[in-house]
Amino acid sequence: MGSQKRIRTVVIGAGWGGSHARVISELSDQFELLGICSRRIERGRSVAEAIGLPGITVTSDWHELVDMPGVDLTVIASPDAHHHEMTCQAIQTGSHVFCDKPLAMSVEHAAEMLRLADARGVCHATGFTWRFAPIFASLADEIDAGRVGWIRGIDAHFTIRPPLPGKEWQFDPRLRIGGVIGNLGVHVIDLALWLLGRANGEVSPTLSGWQVWCEADLVGREGGPVPVVNDIAWIQMRSPEFGSLGRLDAPEQRQRAHIRVFVSQNDTYRAPDPVGLTVHGERRTYEAVANPLDPMAQSLSWVEQTSHPRSSIKPLRYPGGLPHPPSAERPSGGLLYPTLVHLYRDHIGPRIAGRVRFSDGDGEMPTFSSGLRAQYVLESALASARTGGWVNVGDQVDLETS
Ligand SMILES: NC(=O)c1ccc[n+]([C@@H]2O[C@H](COP(=O)([O-])OP(=O)(O)OC[C@H]3O[C@@H](n4cnc5c(N)ncnc54)[C@H](OP(=O)(O)O)[C@@H]3O)[C@@H](O)[C@H]2O)c1
Repeated sequence: MGSQKRIRTVVIGAGWGGSHARVISELSDQFELLGICSRRIERGRSVAEAIGLPGITVTSDWHELVDMPGVDLTVIASPDAHHHEMTCQAIQTGSHVFCDKPLAMSVEHAAEMLRLADARGVCHATGFTWRFAPIFASLADEIDAGRVGWIRGIDAHFTIRPPLPGKEWQFDPRLRIGGVIGNLGVHVIDLALWLLGRANGEVSPTLSGWQVWCEADLVGREGGPVPVVNDIAWIQMRSPEFGSLGRLDAPEQRQRAHIRVFVSQNDTYRAPDPVGLTVHGERRTYEAVANPLDPMAQSLSWVEQTSHPRSSIKPLRYPGGLPHPPSAERPSGGLLYPTLVHLYRDHIGPRIAGRVRFSDGDGEMPTFSSGLRAQYVLESALASARTGGWVNVGDQVDLETS
């Protein structure tokens, strides 16, 4: 970035937000970290000290950061229920915004965040950085090179442990929508729709014509309209007219696809490869597997025919650099840390600096549009879990009257 102005950044949230703060502080030729917020101020202080910036503003009142003069970028990594208000206020001040996933507690709020950001012309990003994990970045390359062909089906899972002590809010419906679907499901859904879009043609943010089915471990909330998804969910999605008769080689058939996702934060669903995604393409089937706690063990392999031997893609592409083993400095797995580096260094930084035009559908970068799309699935999945049937995406949402 040389002599260019550094991007003045504040971070709300000192959990995963602590990893954002660390990456931003390490990219000091592009970014200047001004402050961090956590409700318990000592948590923010210990992040500031750990990243070697004890002099930055540390506060328990997020308004103090959002109202700080001259902030270029606001990073929001607080519980989901705060995303909408924090994002809207930051955008009103003219700040660019990164807001983590799930974007909001409802489609209405996610759509408003996108509308507001576009109207104000600010750069917006969300936390679907699994796209930059080496297995998925490399799978996207395979698609772009035409080795997968159009995709007919995607089968995926994401299974981890129950929330760590202090993170129980993840299953509190006042703070998070959809429990494990909001936590893990949206990552996998974004990956599947992003890969599908590259192979079969862009998938719209409103998923018009798609249907969703979900079976979830629901726990009712006394008097509340929204059931809590406790810790396990199966989600299926099908594109418009999936399953209708037609020639398989007809162009319109290539848009038809089916996605199945299993997510769990239940201790009894242990998996050697917690993240897995199988893509069934016209030419090959690819299997991507990863373990965030064993970042070097990830693999991407493919088969051309059933029962043929597998071939591996080696070396994988590492957009954010090589992963580190997880450590106290880089919690949440060394696998995800470089994905943040790539997001800030190669996407957010250049866009805010004006060196790359910012627009939706920029291919790789997860934006509020991506967040809104996942939110549609999340809401439809909850509607399906309640009714037990397939739900037309968007049927339960009325953006005009909300
Ligand atoms: N993209 C990814 O891969 C990824 C990974 C992990 C998390 N996330 C997302 O990041 C967000 C935070 O999750 P987390 O795991 O970091 O949770 P966490 O460890 O509980 O951290 C949440 C942070 O927000 C702060 N906070 C809570 N309420 C607040 C309020 N009213 N005002 C200001 N700060 C407040 C908390 O303060 P205290 O420190 O005082 O509790 C804490 O610092 C979630 O949306 C989650 O989905 C994304």
